[in-house]
Amino acid sequence: MTQNAKIPFVDLVSLHRAIEPELLQVCKRVIETAGFIGGPEVEGLEKEFAQFCEAEYCVGVNSGTDALRFALTAAGVQPGDIVITVPNTFIATTEAISQAGARPDFVDIDPITFNIDSRKLQSYLETQCVFDAKTGRCIQKALNQPVTAIVPVHLFGQMADMDPILELAEKYHLIVIEDACQAHGAEYFSKKQNRWLKAGSVGRAAAFSFYPGKNLGACGEGGAITTNDPEVARRSAVLRDHGSAKKYYHEVEGYNGRLDSIQAGMLRIKLKHLADWNEQRRAAARIYDELLKPMKGSVSAPTQASYSKAVYHLYVVRTPFRDELQKHLTNAGIGTGIHYPVPLHLQKAYSAMAWAKGDFPEAEGAAEQILSLPMFAGLTLDQQKLVTEAISEFAASFATR
Ligand SMILES: Cc1ncc(COP(=O)(O)O)c(C=O)c1O
Repeated sequence: MTQNAKIPFVDLVSLHRAIEPELLQVCKRVIETAGFIGGPEVEGLEKEFAQFCEAEYCVGVNSGTDALRFALTAAGVQPGDIVITVPNTFIATTEAISQAGARPDFVDIDPITFNIDSRKLQSYLETQCVFDAKTGRCIQKALNQPVTAIVPVHLFGQMADMDPILELAEKYHLIVIEDACQAHGAEYFSKKQNRWLKAGSVGRAAAFSFYPGKNLGACGEGGAITTNDPEVARRSAVLRDHGSAKKYYHEVEGYNGRLDSIQAGMLRIKLKHLADWNEQRRAAARIYDELLKPMKGSVSAPTQASYSKAVYHLYVVRTPFRDELQKHLTNAGIGTGIHYPVPLHLQKAYSAMAWAKGDFPEAEGAAEQILSLPMFAGLTLDQQKLVTEAISEFAASFATR
């Protein structure tokens, strides 16, 4: 049996070792100028990350959660609104919706891509809502509240199928805010526009997380909003800084949601490597796909949709024997994760809501069967072979039981 392979789920130590001198230079530079908040490092990152995402504007903030919250509010979501998302995301997505004063509601996922199923979104809008042509608002009948926005989550580094989502959003006057927290650099082929679009450039605005383990991660907390709308960018910048564009002059009550200069400087160093790191993840995904082929049926590789160039923030396999497989890999010294074990509608945090088991069967089914394998820039072929050998050992032992 494969033992003590010692393959971490994510290896950030090796990634940073190669660029450590440059990162330390950033700390030195910022300490010497004492420009710890805002300033040229944050502005530089905003310009460079906007370019990377092919968006007009970027506003650096202190987390992906705040990026979502500010983007929702800046784009016009009001207290009392309903915002639609999926149940199989990190709770930050719904926290941000609630913190913007709105109420999250869910649409189930496509079990192949794990992203929002646009046919189910259409059915939700057609059957659970009435569109009031006079006010131009889409009212959720049971709750008698307006649905004003959709947050498609580009989960695991693959973009949601945006063409039908944008079409429905246009028809029902909904704001689209991309949760791109796991999708830095991911692309979507829009048949409607006949071109590839980058995550962060498609919705009214998008939110990114720079949590350390993300494809572009800070050495601490960080996040960003991207948008092509100058007013959304301006309002987001105001919200992140206590509601002010000018110090001590407050347009609204805001938040302390600023990105600090040391993180921005480090992110600028790492952004230069992001395209290459994403390519390394894609190459590793292709290798896993090949190595997992013989196990088809018992352990299935993730599917990259034809409209998608995914960046594999996570490489998520699906198996009915998930818990046993995870145990086997842990015993073999291989790190894994489950993203996420409990769909949000079944979380204790939402026990006061009317959701129940069975409401979103695809998300529930996925939560029981998904397993994230080691995936990071710098993952070696030898490491991948050890992972897949351990999986085939498991599959063989399971078949003979
Ligand atoms: C899908 C998704 N949304 C939102 C967030 C929130 O980002 P942060 O942790 O930077 O607040 C994350 C990060 O974990 C995420 O994965």
